[in-house]
Amino acid sequence: MKNIFKLFAVFTFLSGFVFIGCDEIFEKEAPVGEVNLIPEPLSVQRKDGSYELEDDTRFYLTSDNEQLKKAAVIFAGYINRSSSFQLKPEYNKNAKGDECIIVSLNTDTARYGTEGYSLKVTQDKIRIEAATPAGAFYAMQTLRQLFPPELEDTTFIADEWNIPAVEIFDKPQFHWRGQLFDVSRHFHPIELVKKNIDYLARYKMNVYHLHLTDDQGWRIEVKKYPKLTEIGAWRVDYNDMGWWERPDQKPGDTATYGGFYTQEQIKDLVKYAADRFITILPEIDVPGHSQAIIASYPEVSCDGRQYYVATGGVKKDNTVCPGKERTFEFLEGVLDEVIPLFPGKYFHIGGDECNKSQWEKCPDCQRRIKEEGLKDEHELQSYFIRRMEKIVNKHGKVLIGWDEILEGGLAPNATVMSWRGEKGGIASARMGHDVVMSPNHYCYLDLKQGNPELEPSYGYSRLLITKAYSYAPLPDALTKEEQKHILGVQGNLWGEFIRDEVAFNYMLFPRLLAVAEVGWTPKDMRHWNEFVPRLEYNLTRLKNMGIGYAPSMYNVNVEVLGNGELALSTERGGLPIHYTLDGTEPVASSPVYNTPLKITKDNVLKAAAFKGGERKGRITTFVLKKEDENKKD
Ligand code: ACM
Ligand code: ZN
Repeated sequence: MKNIFKLFAVFTFLSGFVFIGCDEIFEKEAPVGEVNLIPEPLSVQRKDGSYELEDDTRFYLTSDNEQLKKAAVIFAGYINRSSSFQLKPEYNKNAKGDECIIVSLNTDTARYGTEGYSLKVTQDKIRIEAATPAGAFYAMQTLRQLFPPELEDTTFIADEWNIPAVEIFDKPQFHWRGQLFDVSRHFHPIELVKKNIDYLARYKMNVYHLHLTDDQGWRIEVKKYPKLTEIGAWRVDYNDMGWWERPDQKPGDTATYGGFYTQEQIKDLVKYAADRFITILPEIDVPGHSQAIIASYPEVSCDGRQYYVATGGVKKDNTVCPGKERTFEFLEGVLDEVIPLFPGKYFHIGGDECNKSQWEKCPDCQRRIKEEGLKDEHELQSYFIRRMEKIVNKHGKVLIGWDEILEGGLAPNATVMSWRGEKGGIASARMGHDVVMSPNHYCYLDLKQGNPELEPSYGYSRLLITKAYSYAPLPDALTKEEQKHILGVQGNLWGEFIRDEVAFNYMLFPRLLAVAEVGWTPKDMRHWNEFVPRLEYNLTRLKNMGIGYAPSMYNVNVEVLGNGELALSTERGGLPIHYTLDGTEPVASSPVYNTPLKITKDNVLKAAAFKGGERKGRITTFVLKKEDENKKD
């Protein structure tokens, strides 16, 4: 078929005819992919030549395994979308020969573990080996990254793809490589949630933590308690105001902004994730962050008054009441419906930032403290979490909570997600509890990615990608034995400022790639300068996918030195910085920054980094402030 197209195209060219639609017929030859993988595999050897994947390539699976078949169909889908041919997986127990991809499962778990693989690309064929379908799926993700970035461009149809010859052996350091998405602060369509799952699969991440409930919205259908979604999923739309400035809902206001996922949608989502070897970790955040609950069912609050779903901000009077037995009956009813929807081993119960001022005034809470012989409200929280743990354990699951669940005593079988730095994680590991590291200074993807003056109004504070990339999830403070309790690492995309896909993409990328590598590749193999070219190759992929990632690492930072001179740098490093002093836009022919600059108060410095003559990142503008001028004097 393709040859006919080619002949027809040549004829059209020679005859000088203008042929309408000819662009669609020309099949483009893709360049050879490069070896720029994220996360970096344990071992990669580049070999001579490349393999040409084209319409005569067969795709054999030597095991008749359902999960493997699904993985292969998903992989073929990536290729077929941008190819003039259709790759189709076939079961063939004794597959051999050339011009094929052969995927085999064996029982060598000592070599491959549960997620490892080997991938050999020669000029004749591609061989994948793993002990599990998950390992084979990750090999296919690696293979996918060996294709040139044009594979991601859905307008690009190739009739052959050239994959560099390599020999790769790989397995992850951690079995928990997670990302949280907060769908409470803003509700997001299931399509975006699925895209997020696709992104995780691409970078070999395997836990998707859905923060399903918070003060600003309850997002999952519970048939026994319909008001959770009739009332709790909706708030008054104050999106035209800043998150912190919004008034509370008042009687008579209509709450129209929000949404929720039905149980059917959740089941479909769980399956979608499982097909990509991703476990969804659901979070129902209690006893704090519960204003959407008590707005729906005030009888489980301390004072039973009328509450409203929060419109924004940080709430105080937002707890369920651990003094009332009805609270536990209610939560058990909720969990009895929600937990079975998610087949993973863990259930996240939140437990963070619980403001206990209501408990101090509540007669039921105070009675509970007395009757149970508890010391204070911290121990009351611990009592609450232990009761939650009983419900979670009843379903055969392990309770996981934010590190505040340590306060007042940790529940007996709990796993801890350490977010307020590593302290809670270290303490928990020392007590023999498992831990997921997610310290905010390294893992919070809702923090701005650069100089706030150049960043859009998503997020707060700062987490640079270099810092995210530098994270070592195994704290030196722990012994080797204690370190075994560190299950892995997780990046958290909190949602206060994530209203749409544009904001989502900007905040998630490119830092997600750093988190992915932190979870997969041992720390001693990770070096920023070696990550940069791999990252940039992947940025081209993201661009082809239409993802507006943050260019912050290219932005020029200005530091005023002690003598008043200006030092210019980028987080990325190694690129020429061009600048002007007259307020005009810097271009590739503007002067290059070499040594610290002296400027006067009449100058307007504009600077930007360039690569291959093209500006990267935004333009930094700088004028001397009074105190900087003084420095100069
Ligand atoms: C959290 O960031 N409150 C877990
Ligand atoms: Zn109470």
